[in-house]
Amino acid sequence: MAFPRHRMRRLRQSEPLRRMVRETRLSSSDLIYPLFVTEGRDRRQEIGSMPGQYRLSVDLLVKEAAEVKLLGIPAVILFGIPERKDERGTSGYDPKGIVQRAVRALKDQVPGLLVITDVCIDEYTSHGHCGLVKDGRILNDETLECLRAMARTHAQAGADMVAPSDMMDGRVAAIREELDREGFVDLPIMAYAAKFASCFYAPFRDAADSSPKFGDRRSYQMDPANAREALREIELDAEEGADIVLVKPALPFLDVIAAARARTSLPIAAYQVSGEYSMIKAAARAGWLDEPRAIIESLLSIKRAGADLILTYFAKDATRLLNE
Ligand code: PBG
Repeated sequence: MAFPRHRMRRLRQSEPLRRMVRETRLSSSDLIYPLFVTEGRDRRQEIGSMPGQYRLSVDLLVKEAAEVKLLGIPAVILFGIPERKDERGTSGYDPKGIVQRAVRALKDQVPGLLVITDVCIDEYTSHGHCGLVKDGRILNDETLECLRAMARTHAQAGADMVAPSDMMDGRVAAIREELDREGFVDLPIMAYAAKFASCFYAPFRDAADSSPKFGDRRSYQMDPANAREALREIELDAEEGADIVLVKPALPFLDVIAAARARTSLPIAAYQVSGEYSMIKAAARAGWLDEPRAIIESLLSIKRAGADLILTYFAKDATRLLNE
């Protein structure tokens, strides 16, 4: 007879007891802070759909990154907002492009902070797709050349890790080969392995002005209905040489994170994306949710599901809350 011998509430009676039996812990060392970098000087534009997040010019990005480092957050991931976009996204792999310059400045002025770069041409293409386009179709193999060049120029600028987010097949192997050939054998790749065609990227696309001008991304990003396919994507990226695999978005795909945890011994990252951030912000602003508790609970759930690392726009807030 379980009850009354067993009383689950015995260990819930006080905070010291609860702390002692707590299974999951959040730490600022698990967090990666996404930052948007734009042209100009002294520019700090708030992103309308992401209150508290900004497009920053390189000089202010350096200041922001220094603050992030001081808080104890180990890494940032950079997204570029270029001045010009074209069919092939060439400003994305220009050695003097916005991200390449930002990486140089950060490595120079904020030593010790890990700088990760997002490798994908969608922020740089006039059509907004993550690949080259011909006759309305997204070309896979031809896009790999752009991704190689982008990863190479990020590495040459001093990036500590590259994170391909385009979902072209074979891009992890192509980038690995390119980096090795150029002497960057020790540069890790964090592959957005299971990236779903999600509505939750909408605020990011507003931030980066990267909504596709025609069609959608369903021919390359994954169908949200598929979990087994996500595991295949993860296996393939691991085989191609990924050092870390990423699941994105996070909260709607906790089952995928948990399944991935059971299958791979690689570190798993999860991306709490813009829409997840904006939902919490909006509800908190309306007085419908307690923002600090929503931040901690959502991040804790992502870790509990099995993520080692979390990319989150709440990285600074969460760190402050954890330090309280
Ligand atoms: C592609 C990329 C996207 C995000 C990260 N990398 C946008 C997309 O696929 O449309 C979304 C991140 C977010 O929503 O916070 N470069």
